[in-house]
Amino acid sequence: MHPDSVVMVGTLRKELVEELERRYGARELRELGDGPGTGVKVAVTSGVWGVRAEHLDRLPDLRAVVSFGVGYDSTDVAECHRRGVAVANTPDVLTDCVADLAVGLVIDVMRGLSAADRSVRRGDWATGRQPALARRVTGARVGILGLGHIGGAIAHRLEAFGCQISYHNRRRRDDVPYAYAASLVDLARGCDVLVVAASGGETSAGLVDVNVLAALGSDGYLVNVARGSVVDETALIGALERGELAGVGLDVFANEPHVPAALLERDDVVALPHIGSATVETRAAMTELVLANVEQLLAAGTLITPVPHATV
Ligand code: DGY
Repeated sequence: MHPDSVVMVGTLRKELVEELERRYGARELRELGDGPGTGVKVAVTSGVWGVRAEHLDRLPDLRAVVSFGVGYDSTDVAECHRRGVAVANTPDVLTDCVADLAVGLVIDVMRGLSAADRSVRRGDWATGRQPALARRVTGARVGILGLGHIGGAIAHRLEAFGCQISYHNRRRRDDVPYAYAASLVDLARGCDVLVVAASGGETSAGLVDVNVLAALGSDGYLVNVARGSVVDETALIGALERGELAGVGLDVFANEPHVPAALLERDDVVALPHIGSATVETRAAMTELVLANVEQLLAAGTLITPVPHATV
């Protein structure tokens, strides 16, 4: 095998780097110097980093980008496909862990778990102070934006809590028992907690805007495990500061790893450092799926989990 068949774009997890180095002598793109990376067939990246035109320009023989993570909005998929470069991600293997985390955030933000933990650590309990009463999760009305694999897994879990599930997608699904809201504003108006599970990228950017937040209202909660770009973060901060939202649980932010101070200082905000898939089991499965995609591309010229071409 050509020693430069595989390059890595961005910082990847140690186990994946070690295996790519061991199997293919993979190097980081920046180590190849300024010239063209001829002979490179596969670029391995992640949802945090991505491959874009400036990388593609340097890789004239590239046949595939394999991205660690289900979200691939950091890679310019349209440009890859235009140049005949296929793209793969790691779907499905992380569905359960991201859904688990979403449910954890729903419970945390509605019951005030993180805020209560801080209160105990401050010594409030010892001095007779208890947090204000929280809200019941069982039976809550949950609206899901993006009822794909992850959204569906969240819905399935919350059914066990007796939650009433509704959703908004670009298209109504006829294979689920949940109520469809024709608009995101309608979805927000009819739920206690809005869970964002939509894909990132241009089509979903800013979908949760000032109107959606207003429809959710001062008793409403927002949970986002998808991409920070789906929510207008400035509008979100404004709504919280005016008391127009009950609380938010966020695993993702507009400009990661930067989290606005206005969110961090609030007790009605649960902030996590994008850990939806961050379990030993799931990260190992994601690593295996990346490696299997690379292997199959180099052996047979095909990918196991290709990202579809955009449909107009
Ligand atoms: C992904 O893989 O895109 C998700 O953000 C995991 O949390």
